[in-house]
Amino acid sequence: MRIYEMENYDEMSRQAANIIAAQITLQPESVLGLATGSSPIGTYEHLAKLYEQGDLDFSGVTTFNLDEYVGLPADNDQSYRYFMEDNLFNKVNISPDSINFLNGMSSDAETECHRYEQAIIEAGGIDLQLLGIGHNGHIAFNEPSDRFERSTFQVELTQSTIDANKRFFASIDDVPRKAYTMGIGTIMAARKILVVVSGADKAETVKAALTGPVTAEVPASILQFHQDVVIVADQEALSRM
Ligand code: GLP
Repeated sequence: MRIYEMENYDEMSRQAANIIAAQITLQPESVLGLATGSSPIGTYEHLAKLYEQGDLDFSGVTTFNLDEYVGLPADNDQSYRYFMEDNLFNKVNISPDSINFLNGMSSDAETECHRYEQAIIEAGGIDLQLLGIGHNGHIAFNEPSDRFERSTFQVELTQSTIDANKRFFASIDDVPRKAYTMGIGTIMAARKILVVVSGADKAETVKAALTGPVTAEVPASILQFHQDVVIVADQEALSRM
């Protein structure tokens, strides 16, 4: 595991964008796994800047996002699909046909999750997966639990995640209670994993995830068992290490 300690959020974002840009430049047909949340927003800004400058070409790239709320259509401004359009897809030359997302409006969880797993396999697997880490140690929407999920599944969100995400909704009652998410097995199958994490409020979680026991109670701790993980963090997030 390689850890880059960056001075602040913007430096973290620039470094993460450079790593993704290197991946796309070396392998223009890369399959990228993408994340939402406040952690990767700056990374997407820097990627859009590289594209605008003519230094990066997304035309060969395929993407799979980690997760989506159940019950939110793509055009709902709180859906993860909308977030991605707003923060990245509308700003770069990625082909709409190459964007893959879980359909939050599908009422058949089993079929939808199976479809997504198959689509990832058919695309040849994920070359580089971008991840954030939730305050409770979750990755994607894999919440603390007594087991690691092997593949994409429907999850009941924990109260702490609902509380953490309510800032994006008009009221807490509007926060969806369920989501579709890649499983830990799906994430661990990615050939490379890039984690962005910032802020003093994540410092304890980062310490537990990177140096504590590997346990489904801290889902991000499984990353210790992956062979090619890069952590790009700011100083505050690493302050307890
Ligand atoms: C959400 C997403 C995760 C993300 C997490 C952390 O729950 N499903 O993929 O990593 O939030 O978000 P933030 O980066 O805003 O702290």
